[in-house]
Formats: sequence, C-alpha cells, structure tokens
Amino acid sequence: MAPVDPHSYTDGAHPVTAHAALAFYLDFAASTIHASALVTLSAPHTGDLLLDTRALAVHSAATAPAPDAAPSPIPFSLAADADPVLGTALTLALPPDTASFLLTFSTSPAASALQWLAPPQTASGLPFVFSQCQSIHARSVFPCHDTPAARITYSLLLNVPAQLSAVAAARHVARRDPVPSDHRGACDDALWCAPGRIVEEFEMAQCVPPYLFAFAAGGIGSRDLGPRTRVYAEGGDTLLDDAAREFAGVEDMVKVGESLFGPYEWERFDLLVLPPSFPYGGMENPRMVFLTPTVIKGDAAGAQVVAHELAHSWTGNLITNKTNEDFWLNEGFTTYAERRIVEVVQGEERAALNSGIGWRGLNRMMERFKDNMEFTKLKPKMAGIDPDDVYSEVPYEKGFQFLWRIERQIGRPAFDEFLKKYIANFKFQSIDTETFLEFLKANVPGIENQVDLHEWINGTGLPPDAMEPESATYKKICVLAAEFKSGKIPSEEEVADWSGQEWELYLENLPTDVEASQVTALDERYKLSESRDYEVKVAFLQLAIPTGCRCYFNEVEKCLKQVGRMKYLRPLYSSLARCSGEEEKMLAKRIFSEAQEFYHPIARGVAESILLKHG
Ligand code: BES
Ligand code: ZN
Repeated sequence: MAPVDPHSYTDGAHPVTAHAALAFYLDFAASTIHASALVTLSAPHTGDLLLDTRALAVHSAATAPAPDAAPSPIPFSLAADADPVLGTALTLALPPDTASFLLTFSTSPAASALQWLAPPQTASGLPFVFSQCQSIHARSVFPCHDTPAARITYSLLLNVPAQLSAVAAARHVARRDPVPSDHRGACDDALWCAPGRIVEEFEMAQCVPPYLFAFAAGGIGSRDLGPRTRVYAEGGDTLLDDAAREFAGVEDMVKVGESLFGPYEWERFDLLVLPPSFPYGGMENPRMVFLTPTVIKGDAAGAQVVAHELAHSWTGNLITNKTNEDFWLNEGFTTYAERRIVEVVQGEERAALNSGIGWRGLNRMMERFKDNMEFTKLKPKMAGIDPDDVYSEVPYEKGFQFLWRIERQIGRPAFDEFLKKYIANFKFQSIDTETFLEFLKANVPGIENQVDLHEWINGTGLPPDAMEPESATYKKICVLAAEFKSGKIPSEEEVADWSGQEWELYLENLPTDVEASQVTALDERYKLSESRDYEVKVAFLQLAIPTGCRCYFNEVEKCLKQVGRMKYLRPLYSSLARCSGEEEKMLAKRIFSEAQEFYHPIARGVAESILLKHG
C-alpha cells in the first residue's frame, strides 16, 4: 500500500479514476440519490482496487458492458468500520486487465456533501438540493479516488422532477426526456422514465480534482450578465435582479484576471447564488461558482468574494494542491491573486484594507492555535485530522504573506512574470509544496539565500519578515479602535464614508475586554447589532457576547437561524460556549437544537463539535 494522501484510501501503486460517467436519480422525498457510475481507470488493473466512500450503500459492481462480452459481477466489499475522517474503503477485486467497471449505489440522507431542502425551507416553494464537496465530501456522493492528486473528467445525468432545473460545475449539454438506456442500472426503467421527470445532461471535459464536482437542483432561474457570465438563483425575481446588479462587473473582472494570470481556460464563468444555509462565502466550482446570498448587499462588497472565487480559476482549479497538506498552494495563491484583482477593480486602498483585515485574522489564528502550533505552519501534518476541524485563515493569509514577501524581494514585474510562467507550466496538474519550491528556485535564482523558504513553509507562528500592510484607511481605523479603550466612540464624521469592511476592521481591532456599557453605547449610536451586513453584525455580536450583555441574545438567535455560513456560526457558537455563564451555554444548545435542521451537514458537524468541546 502506497498512500498518496492522508485523506484518501487511494493506493498510489494502482491506477486511479480517469473518467466517471454518472447517472443520478434524485429522490427528493427520500433525500437520496440512486446512482450508477461507469468508471474508466487511468490504466488497466488486476486485483484489489480501493475507492473512497462515506455513508454510501453500494448495490453492485460489474465489468463494463461491452458489445462482445456480457458484464460479469466484480466481488466487492465495504470495510466493516467507517473511519471518522476517511469514511469507508470500498475494495473491488478486479478481473485481469480491467479498464473500466460499473457501480450502482445510493447515497445516504445524511450524505455529508449534500443538503436537501424541503419546499417550506426554500424561497420558491420547490425542493432544492446542492452539493459541497471540498475538502473530502465527494466520497459521500459517489465512490471515487477522493484526493486532489487524482484528476478526473466526468459526464453527469441528473434525473429530476420536470418543474425543477439543475446546474453543475460542467458544460450543460441538454435538458431532455429520460430514456431507459441513460441510467445503467441507477434505478428501474419505470422510475427513471416516469412521467413528470426530466434529465439534465452535463459534460466536464477538463480534468478536475473530485472536490470540484458540484451540482444543484431546484426552482432555479437565471439572468445573463455578459457573453460568458450568467447568474443563477432559486430566490425568485427580486433576488435575481439584485444579484444581476451586484455582479454586473463580473465580465470585466474575468478580463482583469486574464491580463494578470493568462487565459481563462474554463469557457464560462457563471455564478449560482445558494439559499442562506450555504456553509461558505463562496466555493470555486469550475464554470459555476457557488455563493452565499449574504454577499448580495448592494454595496459592491460581494465583489471581493467573487474576485476570490474567480482567482481560483487559475490558482486552485488549474493548479491544484496535491493533498490538503499543501492547501496553502490553493488558498494562499488565491488570496494573493484576489487582492491583485481587487487592486485593479476597486483600487489600491481597498486592496490594502483587505490585506489589513487578513493580517488581523492571521494574528488571531496564532492565538487560536497557540496550543496546537502545527496548524500555524503553511504545510501542517494532517494525518488523522479532519480538514473541516482545522479550517482557518492560516493557509490563506500566511500563504499571502509568503508570496507578498517574495514579490517584495524580486519586484512586481519579475513576480508577475514568474506567476504567469508558474500557471502555464503546471496547469491541469496537482502539485505539492516541494514542487513549487523547486520551480521557484529554478526560476528565481538565489531566492533561497534571500528569503528563508524553509522557515516560511515549515516554521510555526509568523516569520520576522512577515509584514503588516500599510494604508491610510487601515491606519486610521487601527488608531480609532485603540482609542475605544479610553472611552472614545468614533464620530459620525469619522465614519461617514465607512462601508462594511471598514466597520469589520474597526470591530475586530477593538480590545476584547471591553465593558458592556461601552458596547451598548457604540450600538446605540450605530445600530451594528442590526446591520444587514453579516460581517459587521457578527463582528459586533462576537464582541458583545463576552461582556455578559444579554440584550443581544435575540439578534444572536436570529443570526444563527437565518444564515448557515460557517464563518458566522463558528465565532458565535464559540463565543456563547466559552462564556462562563450557564445562560449563554444553554442558549447555544437551544438555538443549535432548533436550527440544526436548517444547516448543511458540514456546518452542523462543525457547530456540534464546538458545543461538545466546550461542554
Ligand atoms: N475553497 C474555499 C472554500 C472552502 C475551503 C470550502 C475549504 C471547503 C473547504 C473558497 O474559495 C473560499 O476560500 N471561500 C471564502 C471566501 C473568502 C476568502 C473571500 C469563504 O467562504 O469565506
Ligand atoms: Zn478560496
């Protein structure tokens, strides 16, 4: 056994999935997918082959149907015990020289990648389902080599009720009637072809890591934004109009990305606005970025999240981290690239402000991980660790700092040239940190004598040559925040031109040991606890909870029940659970018990583990 990835059962000595032809029958009443997968391997193989699964029921395995040979069953077994992080290994005993095989299986209603929303939980009153596979949840949708080291192409048939439509992170081929030859045993012909069902057909011809597999189905509408951009949402006409306004500049942003990083290789750049339970701000699914509806605020701040997910089209989706230990190659590069796009689109001050928010976040993470310094490393050891449990700003912001440090060393023109060359050289590959370092040293001779590469990659904490970003706005806000301690609340004049990001930075810079009276005075003046901007609202509530001030319980509860984005759930549940008072702990438990149905399974798991940890 030659493991390639601490988060996968994939055996490096064996071939891997090259292509999967997937047929999914979506059973909304049972929150289940009945499916088949015709898997083609990168090379023929004989004997044991391991695949990742999580909570899947595997019904059959057989050699692929061929004109000259009847399919024969393939012996298979699912491991008796599920590993809490990895899931359950599926072992197939392949007959000699097997190049492809057919599996049939069903997902569990508790599949960790999938959230099924019943009609009362959606805006359209129709059912909705969506997937979120990063980091290691694709295995709960179909058996696969669920490591970014193994890239796949795929085709996908989604059989859904005809009043729904479906989207995927792939090329849309057709919406058409189901035919019996489609499904390859996913379910009965009668079910597949029942009246009132429709098939949406997709094709992904560019190889992607399994975590970029994505789809959604529901009462989804759309608006065209530009020649290769369109926004989709299930929230109805008003939401679509707001979204179209918010994202009007997306085509220009793609052009900026191309000028900085080289051609956009994915043909289309569409956006899907998800229901409020979407657990992330954004997810870079290729051709179809998934977004939380909370980015639509009408103040163009959503542009930052879009810039980030767009940047992944080069850094992450074209060049992918080989395993989660190299995650910074995805997120650090993308954070750097995001800020370069923001700099062009929104100006240098805005980009520097974002870097400043990032710098504060990075310093907070040093505090969070002070008893577990491994996760302050750019390249941490991840064996036995669930990536969702240690998700943090470290790969984003320390990665950004590292790249910015190199940029400062060699100058922007040289760094830009390096970046373009790096992308062109490794596109459609999954690489590790060592490969990046070799490429860096080969293309920037002497860099290892100027920047302590080893310290940046393997050191804990922050290297001495990390740098706090400088900008006039950032400095002004830091000064104002420091003055809060002595009782000063910023004047209307001082905050006149503040948007959400300025407030966010201000609040996150306030001392954490402030008095309840000070917090309420700030809120009386600026109504932060009721802000429609969740970044501001959550930053405020996070400050207010530890003061023991109960007057915000209501807003905390509303927030935790309205939005399932983990960036908000984590700090709010943690602040409540860490309070010494029993009342806060009880509140957290009650809210969780009432809201958990509304959360995506990943978010539910994260919230649950916060509550468990703090008893
Ligand atoms: N790829 C991430 C989201 C992610 C990371 C999902 C790890 C699952 C596991 C995405 O690109 C991201 O970073 N989103 C951020 C956006 C922000 C940095 C602008 C988010 O969701 O907050
Ligand atoms: Zn990202």
